[in-house]
Amino acid sequence: MSKLKIELEVNQRKVVRETEPQKRLLDFLREDLNLTGAKEGCGAGECGTCSVFVDGKLVKSCLMPVAKASGCKVETIEGLAEPGQLTPVQKAFHKTGASQCGYCIPGMVMAATSALRANPDAGIEEIKERLGGNICRCTGYTKIFEAVEMARAVIAGDMAPAELEEDAVGASYIGANVRRLDAPSKVSGRLKYAADMRMPDMLQMQVLRSPHAHAKILSIDTSEAEAMEGVACVITSRDVPGQDGFGVFVHDQPIMARGKVRHVGEAVAAVAAEDLLTARRALSKIRVEYQELPGIFDPQEAMEPGAPVVHDYAPGNVVKHIPVRKGDTAAGFAAADLVLEDDFSTQQVEHAYLEPEAGIAYVDPDDVVVVISPSQNITHHRHMLSHIIDKPINKVRFIMSPVGGGFGGKEDMIYQGMLALAAMKTHRPVQLNFTREESLIASAKRHPSLVHYKMGLTKDGRITAIEFNMLSDGGAYGMSSEGVMRKAAILSCGPYEVENLKVDTTAVYTNNTPSGAFRTFGGMQAQFATESMMDMAAEALGMDPFEIRRVNMMKIGSRTHTQQELTTASLDRVLDAAEKASRWETGAPVSRGSQRGDLGGPDTRAPCTLGARINQPDVAAGKEKVA
Ligand code: FES
Repeated sequence: MSKLKIELEVNQRKVVRETEPQKRLLDFLREDLNLTGAKEGCGAGECGTCSVFVDGKLVKSCLMPVAKASGCKVETIEGLAEPGQLTPVQKAFHKTGASQCGYCIPGMVMAATSALRANPDAGIEEIKERLGGNICRCTGYTKIFEAVEMARAVIAGDMAPAELEEDAVGASYIGANVRRLDAPSKVSGRLKYAADMRMPDMLQMQVLRSPHAHAKILSIDTSEAEAMEGVACVITSRDVPGQDGFGVFVHDQPIMARGKVRHVGEAVAAVAAEDLLTARRALSKIRVEYQELPGIFDPQEAMEPGAPVVHDYAPGNVVKHIPVRKGDTAAGFAAADLVLEDDFSTQQVEHAYLEPEAGIAYVDPDDVVVVISPSQNITHHRHMLSHIIDKPINKVRFIMSPVGGGFGGKEDMIYQGMLALAAMKTHRPVQLNFTREESLIASAKRHPSLVHYKMGLTKDGRITAIEFNMLSDGGAYGMSSEGVMRKAAILSCGPYEVENLKVDTTAVYTNNTPSGAFRTFGGMQAQFATESMMDMAAEALGMDPFEIRRVNMMKIGSRTHTQQELTTASLDRVLDAAEKASRWETGAPVSRGSQRGDLGGPDTRAPCTLGARINQPDVAAGKEKVA
């Protein structure tokens, strides 16, 4: 392919390069100039992680063809300050703790810099507006906005620059304002995530994924792809030398589909090639013959007799059933003055960490297979991989790269095995960087769950019995389902003393995208149902919602319904604090959207109405108004 000559100025240096014409400015900066501060979070102009300045204008470099940048002045995060130095904006991000996983932060710093360059007096609403094209999944934005306001004050001379410098920590860290050690590399864009890493002679991997939810694989023909110039290897399940199966609890997932596919997006084959384009082209040369099978997509139908079976070892499609029994529920319900019964459902949720999955594998000179990836579970991966590639544990090494957001979603080893196999086959480093679409289609989600709940109470609000039955869609593979079901069962009845309970949590296989770990690990689904029931019970009994919880709340000395004695936890204090912080004594919120909490001034609120909007300047002054 003929190359394109590009001449431009990058971070005040003249750059002349010949590059591939199809590249985006983002690719050119990252691959040709090794300026990896600009990240690829979505590749579609939505997240802002790739933000740079082009002729002084903030631009999403994933949307700009490199040809269009020729002749322009480009400024990246690496060019904002001299190496080793930080700008006031970067220092303020460091001071407020705005950088958590850090993956969005270079883009945020660029957007904040742009905001203050455009208007050094920008108020908070304008700052929010100007940062509106950038997404963060960790912080909730409060610290980021605080940092921009702080930088604005320093630039305007309203705050001494010294206040952005690190406070000296005395003899003890307890009570001291301690900053993140890795923040300088995050706010300056110098931290290398897995997709930013380069190794000499490195190959690029691409993965062929299933278009079917449930199908037999009749044949895979990789010969044409293997014969292509620039293709170093093609791997399928045939290349697995050991015991092919991984999973956090049940090892039911092959490195690549073996014999059949169980969900859309499942890896079927992978190509490692000299460059990304060749690897992508080679995928289209792989011929896979499928025979479609009836799929199962509803967890209730998955348990019915005669339902399609997803895994032969589990003919009833059950991944895990956790039962918990205590006391006598029939007697508990008989003693109740009120029995409530209802159903609750929660949906599948995508983690959407800003760093898509990425990794590198290579075989080192001592024949150790090394995998670098932002895994949240590297020790477990290491042990599983040693069985899969049939090597002793001392010949397998996992290195955890910085995790650009995980939230539980990077606990499962959905791609590291493919990298290891390709590195073993080629004896060259191999890198795989997921696209956002690939991350969405192939990564585990929060379990969609259905809860049937029955609760008995006396008229003074004491719970006499609970029946809790949760059915979760585990998707095509077990992943963390067993742990999620255990945690959901443990937390099923909330922080309340319940003498009589019958709890069942069950995850089932379907042909949906696998479900896995996600913050709270099943607790959220259970608590949503329990706390909804508590509110409904309070309403039915004419009780204050805090009061009914206080009547039932576990205290020091209580035993959980899985028999753990609480020796230090004092949940009633948590309830007191929540009541106080919400200023509950001023009355329950009138409607959804009502605002509570300490707004920094006297409470002069009028009753809220549905869809009420808060007048922000007055809120800032401590006098909120309702429009
Ligand atoms: Fe460019 Fe998301 S906006 S990577």
